[in-house]
Amino acid sequence: MNLSVPRRVTAVAALAALALGGLTGTSATARPAEAAGAAAAPDISLTAVKQHLTDLQSIATANGGNRAHGRAGYKASIDFVKAKLDAAGYTTSLQTFTTSGATGYNLIADWPGGDPNQVLMAGSHLDSVSSGPGINDNGSGSAAILETALAVSRAGYQPSKHLRFAWWGAEELGLVGSKYYVNNLPSTERSKIKGYLNFDMIGSPNPGYFVYDDDPTIEQTFKSYFAGLGVPTEIETEGDGRSDHAPFKSAGVPVGGLFTGASRVKTSAQVSKWGGTATAFDRCYHSSCDTTSNINDTALDRNSDAVAHAIWTLSAGSTTPPPGKVFENTADVSIPDNGAAVTSTVNVTGVTGNAPSNLSVGVDIVHTYKGDLVVDLVAPDGSVYNLHNRAGGSADNIVQTFTVNASSEVANGAWKLRVQDRATYDTGYVNGFKLTFP
Ligand code: TRP
Ligand code: ZN
Ligand code: CA
Repeated sequence: MNLSVPRRVTAVAALAALALGGLTGTSATARPAEAAGAAAAPDISLTAVKQHLTDLQSIATANGGNRAHGRAGYKASIDFVKAKLDAAGYTTSLQTFTTSGATGYNLIADWPGGDPNQVLMAGSHLDSVSSGPGINDNGSGSAAILETALAVSRAGYQPSKHLRFAWWGAEELGLVGSKYYVNNLPSTERSKIKGYLNFDMIGSPNPGYFVYDDDPTIEQTFKSYFAGLGVPTEIETEGDGRSDHAPFKSAGVPVGGLFTGASRVKTSAQVSKWGGTATAFDRCYHSSCDTTSNINDTALDRNSDAVAHAIWTLSAGSTTPPPGKVFENTADVSIPDNGAAVTSTVNVTGVTGNAPSNLSVGVDIVHTYKGDLVVDLVAPDGSVYNLHNRAGGSADNIVQTFTVNASSEVANGAWKLRVQDRATYDTGYVNGFKLTFP
């Protein structure tokens, strides 16, 4: 059989299918498409949330021990959060206001996309009182929504609703920042906000698990999350209206939120329910000992995951992970009959670290007798991975995607597809070689 034009066209078409991700080989590695609306929230890393708290603590320490309105530590906190959101692809804006003789700042971060007429908001106050660094009140909520916002970006989450995150200024002076935002929002914009979720003190050292009882859908979303963990919750009663959801609620926006308790004392019934001691939920509330030591890791972890769960569930979207990186060589390389090995090379750049355990190797060889051929993948350091060893007898062509565990290889560098024809008569050529890094 010789290389007829139609056969070549067929092989090209097959490679085109590979290029589109229509992987038909033995071990396709295409990601399964998520059903719309079925995207599950990722687990939020406690380590990452705590790192944000460590950074906020450092900001306070470097600025007189607090992050209060009108103090250098507050603006430094805003700059810290804003830089992370900007790098993650958010559209951020600083809203300024004046109170107690100083400029205050709200940071608003919009995730591009979603229905602009249906906005889901989540917010936390970023200011502390002047007597301490404010790590539980309210580094905890601020860090949890920051890490959730970053998780949205990392997942390539495409919510049906538009997502907006907010870090409020001057909450400790009477909800000043959030009131300013709501009061200055045109009523048409206000009516687009379908829900506001508030997170203020969610890592108290002697925690309770309190859910705000405002909007029933939001409340139920949080309650079912904790029910799934087997953690009992109670309705928040330590002062409704004492945080930034209050102005939204007054303006008619459905609100909800989480809270682990402030200066109120845990009852013995609550100790039986949640553990801990019959003392204040947060003995360092509004004081200098509200440091990184003033956090219960389990509460912060559960509540951070609950934040992500609520944002994903209430915005009902789908997840499209960032596409893999594809490196391809489509130059033809003729394979000498019963001759020396030939190679086709792709240069991999910009991939950090090692190759994956599921490196996808797209092979397109046009040949009239595949039983003649030995085909290897050769890593940049010369390591050889055999893909095909004279199997298949008189069948023609090798158009196949192989999955190779290449995790011991550095990803960047020149990867070769090496092909040798070991028997006389039938001939062919390499039509394409493609590596896909997930
Ligand atoms: N930052 C709030 C405050 O100082 C903390 C607080 C107390 C709170 N009670 C609350 C937050 C009830 C939410 C719900 O008042
Ligand atoms: Zn607070
Ligand atoms: Ca041959």
